[in-house]
Amino acid sequence: MSAFQQRVFSGVQPTGNLHLGNYLGAIQKFVDLQDNYDCMYCVVDMHAITVWQDPNELRDNIREVTAAFLAAGIDAKKHIVFNQSRVPQHAELAWVFNCVARMGWLNRMTQFKEKAGKDRENASVGLFAYPALMAADILVYRGTHVPVGDDQKQHLELARDIAQKFNNDFADSIAANGHADGFFPLPEPLITGPATRVMSLRDGSKKMSKSDASDLSRINLRDDAEQIAAKIRKARTDPEPLPSEAKGLEGRREADNLVGIYAALSGDSRDKVLSEFGGGQFSSFKQALADLCIEKLAPITSEMRRMQADTAYIDSVLEDGGVRARELAQGTMDQVKDIIGLLR
Ligand code: TYM
Repeated sequence: MSAFQQRVFSGVQPTGNLHLGNYLGAIQKFVDLQDNYDCMYCVVDMHAITVWQDPNELRDNIREVTAAFLAAGIDAKKHIVFNQSRVPQHAELAWVFNCVARMGWLNRMTQFKEKAGKDRENASVGLFAYPALMAADILVYRGTHVPVGDDQKQHLELARDIAQKFNNDFADSIAANGHADGFFPLPEPLITGPATRVMSLRDGSKKMSKSDASDLSRINLRDDAEQIAAKIRKARTDPEPLPSEAKGLEGRREADNLVGIYAALSGDSRDKVLSEFGGGQFSSFKQALADLCIEKLAPITSEMRRMQADTAYIDSVLEDGGVRARELAQGTMDQVKDIIGLLR
């Protein structure tokens, strides 16, 4: 049996354009996990500034992600919702992890390579060190379970490597401080369900992303019903009718993506969806998908808009969450200092 108390941690960057991929890959799962775990959901503003952000937009975006969490059904009283920069212990532990992680490990991170592009010399140091901060986010609460989309898998593996190396490097001191099974748990990624990687509506080989130049590529949580319907109508497909089993989606990326989105929104499997729509044309499936998407998203987006107008309320949620998070994080940092030999 694990010696660690189970705790869910996850984060979303406030970089604008929250989309259906963020919702299905992450936020919808955050909501589901609340019944069985103690959860911490964080607006990771310090990750956002690894690329330059306009200060006014950043403030708005932090509040928007918070509103999305709450509107989707996260209970900020029972669980903890906060923004990362309110809890300085994340940065403090990230520094320790910068000294544990190896250059070679970070050099392998595909997200850094993608985001830095060709001009790597000009990327911020923060963008390179990003995964060490992400490990600190989770481990400063000794988090055990991390719901994320598929694109975060490599970062989670790195977090496990950092936890493992810390436990090994300081094994004697950790034992002397009374921890028989190592100090940090190895956090487990929860990458489950039919929509762990929602793809662009315009190009089935690219994931749906906040930064895609084409707004038609994604359904934003800011979109209204008309925009959602139009984007799904225009989504790329292929000329074949839908297959009647999930196996028939192989090699049909766009069809697979739309069926996956339907499955995730309805809570069914791809096979179940295809038992209803298999053999049919895309036009009628797209109509059903648009209706479902609007039915599920409209209550969330309208509640989001309502909440965003009440910045005082949003800010009070973040402040309260920050106080509770800091208390937990300070407990971990005190122990980390004792373990590594820093006086406090
Ligand atoms: P971010 O802000 O890019 O995305 C937030 C969450 O949405 C998921 N996601 C997707 N899921 C399915 N299909 C897609 N197209 C799609 N696009 C995004 C992401 O996988 C993520 O779960 N590094 C993280 C934030 C982070 C974090 C953490 C997460 C910082 N610290 C600690 C977990 C634990 C990020 O950039 O997510």
